[in-house]
Amino acid sequence: MKPRDLGVRFAEADARERLRAIADVGTFRELAGPFARLTSPHLAAQGLVAQSDDGVVVGRGRLDGADVALAAMTGEFLGGSLGEVGGAKIAAVLERAVNGAVLVLDSGGIRLQEANLGILAVAEICDAIVALRERAPVIAVVAGRVGDYGGMAIALTLCSHIVTSEVARMGLNGPQVIEQEAGADEFDASNRVLIWRTTGGERRVTQGHADVLARDSCSEIAADVRRVFALPRNARRTSVERLRPIVDAAAATATITRHA
Ligand code: COA
Repeated sequence: MKPRDLGVRFAEADARERLRAIADVGTFRELAGPFARLTSPHLAAQGLVAQSDDGVVVGRGRLDGADVALAAMTGEFLGGSLGEVGGAKIAAVLERAVNGAVLVLDSGGIRLQEANLGILAVAEICDAIVALRERAPVIAVVAGRVGDYGGMAIALTLCSHIVTSEVARMGLNGPQVIEQEAGADEFDASNRVLIWRTTGGERRVTQGHADVLARDSCSEIAADVRRVFALPRNARRTSVERLRPIVDAAAATATITRHA
């Protein structure tokens, strides 16, 4: 079924609109939505107001007829950070997916206010992606204003295919963290040209770290997701398979010396 164009740019759409735009028309169904009251138990104690969906929207929908898991992060809530509850929602839909999944990532990484619980959530998500991609595609879309950094950038690299746009940026350490740790001389986090030249969607496609550069349009991104969903495997995964026999051959001839 032809994806619907919501008449808005993808970057301007919210998480639910993005998933509705990607799924076949009228097929997106949210699971564990706001009325399930799955809010973070950790924020109030730190003087922060929790959000009824913890910044993550998950559900099921169809992609060219195939029943798939869908998840989208909300960049506007605490910088799109991943907490315990939002992370559990993403891991849960991935673990139950059969035909594949689409993850719309818009994340400043692990939620600093939830620390190790966010790290555990990323680990569960990564585990679920690796298990699912053995039998079905896991497509990542990074086309929002935050982009994708930190823990969810690790999850990103595990996905079968990555669709991005000029609006997006992605990397392990975000500009703020690099500047904080190494100083503004090393990386000026206020320099938007520098940020997009080094970590922008277009740059990442050129480097081979993302696969498709889409226009910032709901219908074009939905079409690109369908296109890569039909492809067999991704280059990143093939690289592992190419290197594995080399490592195995070296390991077979290596002498292991036990030190007392
Ligand atoms: N946890 C909690 N809050 C976060 C967050 C995180 N991981 N990432 C961003 N935020 C918050 C910011 O504190 C800010 O809050 P405020 O509006 O109350 O000040 C808000 O989200 C927006 O962030 P800001 O930095 O102002 O937006 P930006 O568009 O200029 O930059 C990033 C967004 C993601 C590029 C930038 O925040 C960044 O570099 N973050 C570090 C990413 C990183 O390395 N994460 C590693 C942790 S796993």
